[in-house]
Amino acid sequence: MGDMQVSKAPASTVDGSRLQIDDLLDGNAAPNSDLNSGADVISGLARIPKTLPPHYFYDRHGSHLFEQICELPEYYPTRTEAAILSQYADDIAQITGPSDLVELGSGSSTKTRLLLDAYAGLDDRLFYSPIDVSGGMLEQSAYTLLEDYPTLSVRGLVGTYEQALDRLPPTSLPTRTILFLGSTIGNLNPCECDEFLDRISRALQPDEYFLLGIDLQKPKPILEAAYNDSQNVTAQFNLNMLCHLNHRFSGDFEPAQFQHWAFFNEKESQIEMHLRSIVSQTALLEKLDLIVELAKGETILTEISRKFDPEAMQAQLSTKGLETINFWSDPQEWFGVLLCQKQ
Ligand code: AVJ
Repeated sequence: MGDMQVSKAPASTVDGSRLQIDDLLDGNAAPNSDLNSGADVISGLARIPKTLPPHYFYDRHGSHLFEQICELPEYYPTRTEAAILSQYADDIAQITGPSDLVELGSGSSTKTRLLLDAYAGLDDRLFYSPIDVSGGMLEQSAYTLLEDYPTLSVRGLVGTYEQALDRLPPTSLPTRTILFLGSTIGNLNPCECDEFLDRISRALQPDEYFLLGIDLQKPKPILEAAYNDSQNVTAQFNLNMLCHLNHRFSGDFEPAQFQHWAFFNEKESQIEMHLRSIVSQTALLEKLDLIVELAKGETILTEISRKFDPEAMQAQLSTKGLETINFWSDPQEWFGVLLCQKQ
């Protein structure tokens, strides 16, 4: 997105062809795509309550804040999932056998290393396709991985999940596994989630795999603490979305006039993060020709983070032809990792 640094050619090959990054945001799709144009901001702010897409959290500073969140004592998901993966990565690799790995929302690829270590023991070649809208982050983590894994080839795709799932590179090893970790699937509402799983299913050939990380239901105080940390990093992360929008669209939001508000909505089984306007105010997003009027106390929904029931998730996956063949959890059953196979 804003921090794209990948080459503008359709494909660039460097480092003895171990690295290739295709930029799907450039060329055909790019300038008018929803992702770059801000059309999603305009439509989101027209809703009631006003809503902003969570991908606007992740400018350079926001991605850095998210890395900090992952280290917070209250934010259990990252370390719980990492513990599950470090315990079971070898089992996962044994079940699938040598497999190309495709990762959606790869970010810094930290947890991916646990899987690459396991797969390195199965075959003398590793193939990894990270997919992310942040080209800068993708390229940076690809270079570090190539240094650390001498048998690795990286074929990255810069783009949205939708764009990338329709254009996955051909597999090199006998099968393919799509990774979607960190419970990022929880950002999708039930309708978006259904469409997303359809796309995953269509992108896979019979017998190929989908490895999904989901955050599970647990007592409300634990959930709410994870999104209201004592160091206020999550609050900064939430407020930073306004700075990002100011920068992207020549806006004049005043973050100091907003409050972070996160709570667990039991009926929907989701954490909701909002930005609450402390005063009655008007903001302008010049590049979008958009005036945003906020009443005192009005909120903007910036993220939902759904907390899942593993059985219900398995049932939904199954309706998409994705059969769960294994489910792993931690001793407290706070987080789950599902391995599914396309029928
Ligand atoms: C990256 C979407 C999984 O929902 O927990 C962390 C993002 N938001 N703290 C989540 C997030 C606030 C995170 N996901």
